[in-house]
Parts: sequence; structure tokens; C-alpha cells
Amino acid sequence: MDSTRAPAGSPDAQISPGKSIAYWSSHPPTVNSMLGGYPQISRTDLRGSAAFWAKLLRQHPPSAPSPMISVDCGAGIGRVTAGFLSDISSIVDVVEPVESFAKETGKQKLEGQGTIGEVFVKGIEDWTPEMGKYDLIWNQWCTLYLTDKHLVDYLKRCRDAIKRPDGWIIVKENTTKDIRDGHDGKDVYDEDDSSVTRTNEKLLDIFRDAGLTIVANEIQKGFPKGLGLYPVRMYALRPEANKK
Ligand SMILES: C[S@@+](CC[C@H](N)C(=O)[O-])C[C@H]1O[C@@H](n2cnc3c(N)ncnc32)[C@H](O)[C@@H]1O
Repeated sequence: MDSTRAPAGSPDAQISPGKSIAYWSSHPPTVNSMLGGYPQISRTDLRGSAAFWAKLLRQHPPSAPSPMISVDCGAGIGRVTAGFLSDISSIVDVVEPVESFAKETGKQKLEGQGTIGEVFVKGIEDWTPEMGKYDLIWNQWCTLYLTDKHLVDYLKRCRDAIKRPDGWIIVKENTTKDIRDGHDGKDVYDEDDSSVTRTNEKLLDIFRDAGLTIVANEIQKGFPKGLGLYPVRMYALRPEANKK
């Protein structure tokens, strides 16, 4: 049996990377596309990320100040690179499987002083980051395209790719609505873009399986309720103390 296949019947067994790429390739390279038709949430999203990051650094100050090398994974057209990561980094690498989006990242007006470094045109399931290269690996709205197994394997590679001891892996992702809100507490497959929105609990299990400690876990606030969006969570992750 192929160990990378999801168990039959599980929502992630339906994931098809080809279908996800076809979905995204049919969209124009705009903020509107990146945000599913809600470009108005971009500012709130970027501010939420900046506030989460600032709080993390206040609570866990770096042992020595140094220029930050970041990577924006599933970067799309570089919305997060331009509007946030370039502000806190000296170099931002980019990983994005849709070539037209990846090319667009180079055309963005970056808000901060940072510059774009390497651009990897591939899915994160196929990307092996350089060992010990990154201070920050930012994954926003892209882990939902991976099966559970591929996601654990990917996060293990990220674990090896962050600088010790100060590096961070951040996952900012949709999660399913809470069971207390009348939802069934299960992962949800979406056939439009062939993605799986996971429960908070499932993501926490995946992070632990990858040998990561969950240092912070917060819900992004401020998205208009009327849009009916999934709750978006920001997770700050670090290698478990005993994992090399
Ligand atoms: C909702 S957009 C988010 C883009 C960006 N992170 C942002 O917040 O603006 C999802 C992005 O994930 C990319 N994507 C799809 N499958 C992927 C994969 N296997 N690995 C990495 N990115 C993927 C899509 O091409 C698209 O650019």
C-alpha cells in the first residue's frame, strides 16, 4: 500500500493536487482571487498577522537580534509578502505552485524594506526547504491542499529548516466551525478547489505528529460576521525540545 495515500473514506482521501492547481490556474492574479471574492478582509488579515507576530516576539524575545529570513508558503501573488513579511524580514523567499501567481510576486510593491529572495514554483508537498535557513516559515491558506500524511511530512521538513533556537513556523488556516455552533466537528472536503478544512483538534494532532510544540493558537478577529467565513486560526509552532 502507498503510505502517502489517505485512508479510504477520510475527507483528505479526496484531495487531488491537480484539481487544486487547475482551480487556481483559472483565477486571475488578484487580491480578490486570493481572498475568495472578499478583498476587503485583506487589511484586517494583515494587521491580525502583524499583531500576532508582535505579541509572540514580546513573549518569546529572540536570543540575539539578526536579519530575518522568511518564506511565504502558498504565497499566491505575494499579498502576505508585500503587506506583512517584507516589513519584518530582510529577505522573503516564496513558494507557490501556480506559475502566473509566483511571477506576480515579483511585481508587488513591498510595504517594508525586505526584498524577495528565491522563488520556488512548486507545491509545499514537493518542497524541501534548506536545513536551518529560515527564521520564519509562514503558511497561510495552503495547508488545506495537503493530505494529513503529506502535511505531517511537510511540517517535519519545516522543523529541520528553521534556525534554532529562535525560528518559528506559523500556520494561518481556516478551521471548521465549532461543534458547539451546531457543526459536526469533522473535517470538510470542498470539491471546488479540492481542499480539506480541518478541525482545530485535527490540526493540533498533525502538529504534534510532526514533532512540533504549539506555542500559541489564536483566532483571527475582525472579519465581518455576515460573510460567514470559517474561523481562521493562527498557530505558532516550534520543534519539541527533544526533537533534533
Ligand atoms: C487562498 S490562496 C492564499 C494565497 C496567500 N497565502 C494569501 O494569503 O494571499 C491559496 C494559494 O495556495 C496555493 N496552493 C494550492 N495548492 C498548493 C500546494 N499544494 N502547495 C502550496 N500552495 C498551494 C494556490 O495556488 C493559491 O495561491
